[in-house]
Amino acid sequence: MQTSDEIYKFFSDYIFEHTGIEYKEHDYYRLDSRITTLIKNFEVQNSQELYEICKAKIDPTLQNLLIDLFTNNETYFMRDLKPFKALARSVIPKLKKENSSIDKLNIWCCASSTGQEIYSVKMAVDAFGQEEYKDSFKINASDISVEALERAKRAIYTGLEVQRGLPAQFLIKYFEKMEKEKTWSIKKTLKENTNFFYFNLLHDEFPREMYNIILCRNVLIYQSQKNKKKIIKNLYKALKPGGYLLFGAGESMIGMDSKFKTMEIEKTWFYQKDLAA
Ligand SMILES: C[S@@+](CC[C@H](N)C(=O)[O-])C[C@H]1O[C@@H](n2cnc3c(N)ncnc32)[C@H](O)[C@@H]1O
Repeated sequence: MQTSDEIYKFFSDYIFEHTGIEYKEHDYYRLDSRITTLIKNFEVQNSQELYEICKAKIDPTLQNLLIDLFTNNETYFMRDLKPFKALARSVIPKLKKENSSIDKLNIWCCASSTGQEIYSVKMAVDAFGQEEYKDSFKINASDISVEALERAKRAIYTGLEVQRGLPAQFLIKYFEKMEKEKTWSIKKTLKENTNFFYFNLLHDEFPREMYNIILCRNVLIYQSQKNKKKIIKNLYKALKPGGYLLFGAGESMIGMDSKFKTMEIEKTWFYQKDLAA
């Protein structure tokens, strides 16, 4: 039985309202595998039966399941590499010198998915940075997907996941092989000074001037222009004066009409909040 446009629209409207992620009509085919997973999960015969259940009531458990399924959690270690080197060698040392009175810089990975980005920052500072900056920051990691956050906290990765982007010497140095399950666990020292929490970039209240660095990578590409502008405004608010925002490699501030100053550091574009803001 084919899924009707009414059913596709129901799920795409729900996801748009709760996450800001847009599935337009020409993207409906991308909902198919997710709808099939839900059909299996609910042990129903087809999308019409599934639709009847979801239309009747979406409780918080089902809401989390829908969000986990319909978000794209694609990520990998050392994604784009250059930004991590720039953070480790330039941005973190510069900010730490400018803020010598504070014990640790406050970094926010605001769409951290399953955690590869968080641990990449930590590995990069350890591998490419100077000794004195290794313990100079803490990471706050959030995501809208509860399942992705749980995985980030657990920090256990499959053989396939550690093969993507991670140099072999990093695997040996920062992971422990869990013999039975053929998985790899991040070493305990790399998990220290990390705080995990649920945060919806579209609907939750942003803190004021809390973070020195925000990584908001490969998440705004899925948002409409209007939502992007709203989130960027809020990220500006959440940064301390002089703080830096980092996007994914394919993302930019073009057309966003923001107050950020754009600068290139080690071949990576960073967006800085004015010191006098
Ligand atoms: C493609 S992943 C990017 C992960 C990582 N930042 C990277 O660049 O590798 C996008 C993440 O954004 C999260 N996300 C999508 N919409 C969100 C929202 N409204 N608020 C918070 N996180 C959201 C998804 O759950 C997903 O984990």
